[in-house]
Amino acid sequence: MPSVLPSNPSLSAGEERGVSVASLAPGADLTGFRAAARRLIAAGFPPEHVLWQIGEAPGLFDSAVVQTGGPPLSLPRAVAALIPMVVPHRDPERYALLYALIWRVTRGERALLEVASDPLVHRLHLMRKAIGRDLHKMHAFLRFRRVAGGVRETFAAWFEPDHHILEAAAPFFVDRFRAFDWSILTPEGSAHWDGETVRFGPPGRREDVPDGDGFEAGWQGYYESTFNPARLNLDAMRAEMPKKYWKNMPETAAIPALVRQAAARTTEMIERPPQMPIKRDPAKAVAAMADQNPTSLDELNAIIKRSEPLVPGATQAVLGEGPLGATIAFVGEQPGDQEDLQGRPFVGPAGQLFSRAMQEAGLTRGDAYVTNAVKHFKFTQRGKRRIHEKPTAGEVSHYRWWLDRELEFVGPKIVVALGATAVLALAGKAVPITRNRGPFAFGGKPFQGFITVHPSYLLRLPDEAAKAAAYAAFVNDLKRVGDLAT
Ligand code: URA
Repeated sequence: MPSVLPSNPSLSAGEERGVSVASLAPGADLTGFRAAARRLIAAGFPPEHVLWQIGEAPGLFDSAVVQTGGPPLSLPRAVAALIPMVVPHRDPERYALLYALIWRVTRGERALLEVASDPLVHRLHLMRKAIGRDLHKMHAFLRFRRVAGGVRETFAAWFEPDHHILEAAAPFFVDRFRAFDWSILTPEGSAHWDGETVRFGPPGRREDVPDGDGFEAGWQGYYESTFNPARLNLDAMRAEMPKKYWKNMPETAAIPALVRQAAARTTEMIERPPQMPIKRDPAKAVAAMADQNPTSLDELNAIIKRSEPLVPGATQAVLGEGPLGATIAFVGEQPGDQEDLQGRPFVGPAGQLFSRAMQEAGLTRGDAYVTNAVKHFKFTQRGKRRIHEKPTAGEVSHYRWWLDRELEFVGPKIVVALGATAVLALAGKAVPITRNRGPFAFGGKPFQGFITVHPSYLLRLPDEAAKAAAYAAFVNDLKRVGDLAT
């Protein structure tokens, strides 16, 4: 590449007066560069009189070494924004180029950055773009692995960026992975997050990061589920996700098989009936529900099964269970971990307690219809555990259309809301449970209503005596429901 820097006849005779040396730390020394630039501009050193030394101790030309800053520079915003985007570039000329830009801008060419045809500007823009691409790749392709840690979950990742971008990339990972401790190791340095601050340290080694853990299957499953065989374009895929990164990404193990199956999966996709719009726009998904017009519970269930979750999480939709025409229908909140895995409502710990209480109340679970307000499990992943998360009021209302149709098809005489979320779904508004426990009119519904607590509330009570009393009251509620249904 032809030089875009002014020629510098004095460098070969470095000891000559009038040459300044700016010594900067290896990597991306933004602070050092800013301080040096301020001092050099204040002292009036033109670019061709500055020697930029990276990673070497000062000393060679000690008389003119520049280490400390000067008064602040008044730079156009675009120039100030460009500097941190070029400093991480691997090109050893980066500081000299940036200083040449600052020099010219502060000597009257304020709008220089807008002159795209200027060779210096052109080269700096190319460097900025390269850093943007490198950051994007690190954000997209870095994969954490679980490692033995302390009290908090601890993860580590190995990554080899093309440029010195570790510090610039770190805030992205802090934002997204705030909840656990992590380290990112690279051949040039490392970053360590402890929940409060990021510390930067010495280079890491690839072998300090385990090859695999329980996350592997998760990443792979995620990739398989988002892979669209009709969009398969191997060249574009290689350009977007260069092979260099594949070895650190568990999901790439799935690529050869997915590529082999692509043609068959595309045909299958074309033949499949249209799907509901995806969860990213729940409002659209809800609007589209009304167009589906299912004429039976089976048809409705097929729609629910095909649909993307309207809450984040879930491996599958959990449908209602029980006979059409059941006299009593029970509505819970949302499937839990076990329900999500087995694809059936109320089969986990709360479900088992519920079945026992029904039996004690003289009700047969198989005669009742049991469903949930929200059909997908919403959770946060904490290590290996999936922690239940309550659906928001907005999410509950997204599912209401399905619940209303479902109950219309089943046609129960009485519908029991188990807990606050079910009440919200059936009444369309929040209703305090304790004050309204017992028979309750949900408004405009062709069935009687009844409010009681959710069985998981009974499981959560800390004190055994309180638990026994609450359980007895719950059984009593179910007996009343049985009486109302006959
Ligand atoms: N809690 C619910 O509300 N529903 C289930 O299916 C399981 C637990």
